[in-house]
Amino acid sequence: MLENMGRMLNSAKEGKFAIAQFNINNLEWTRFVLEECEKNESPVILGVSEGAAKYMGGYQTVVDMVKNLMEYLSITVPVAIHLDHASSYESCKEAIDAGFTSVMIDASKENLETNIEISKKVVEYAHARNVTVEGEVGHVGGQEDGVVGGILYAEVEDCIRYCRETGLDFLAPALGSVHGPYHGDPVLAFDRMEDIKEKTNLPLVLHGGSGIYDEQIRKAISCGICKLNINTELQQAWTKGVREKLSNDSEVYDPRKVIKAGELLMKEAIKQKLELLGSIGMAFKI
Ligand code: 13P
Repeated sequence: MLENMGRMLNSAKEGKFAIAQFNINNLEWTRFVLEECEKNESPVILGVSEGAAKYMGGYQTVVDMVKNLMEYLSITVPVAIHLDHASSYESCKEAIDAGFTSVMIDASKENLETNIEISKKVVEYAHARNVTVEGEVGHVGGQEDGVVGGILYAEVEDCIRYCRETGLDFLAPALGSVHGPYHGDPVLAFDRMEDIKEKTNLPLVLHGGSGIYDEQIRKAISCGICKLNINTELQQAWTKGVREKLSNDSEVYDPRKVIKAGELLMKEAIKQKLELLGSIGMAFKI
């Protein structure tokens, strides 16, 4: 069932588990994610970056593809289509008009006042259409900054003000995670995470979920994380399978066989994350 992230993340907050956002890159990825989550009776969030949406043919193409696949595959678990790191109000509006059920406005490179102003406008448009909104305070570092780094830890007072003044649904405070591979061990500010959870009382989101140790993810869930974003690990798993196929089979040329070679490892990686987050079997309990 296609829905926004409200029921999912509030149930995760109550039940002290987390729901995965798996970023999708094409039709096969969407299919692999949906099939594995259905098999494990887990709710799931399909994350779509602006770049991935452009790659797949725009927001409307993505929404139609997801809806049609869900019908074709008889998907019954709750599914949200979420715009990841939208760079503007206009981008959020376009995705919402196309049928996205949730959006993340990322104005985290702006100062707090401007971040609040833009996010508030998105919340007004989204909430009038039953669409949920996530926003970022501080700045998650990573590949988009050109170098690994660029992390700006979220301040607790800024988070409180941001949530109060925007009225948004979920907060992604930057607390040490990065997008893409880590160079060195991830260092997450757990005390601050817990403080932010208590003072904002909103479900929290952790970006850059690939490469964070399992123990750290469990601790993050106990400190208020209800949604974990994962992209790189699935890309690595899929590419490993495809690379193996291409190096072991010099005769293969059918693209369906090449792409499918990544399915098994990708589905294993998905299942491992669902187990870690505690969302297996939760689809019909939330
Ligand atoms: P990773 O690519 O590091 O898993 O991060 C994904 C993410 O945070 C998407 O918003």
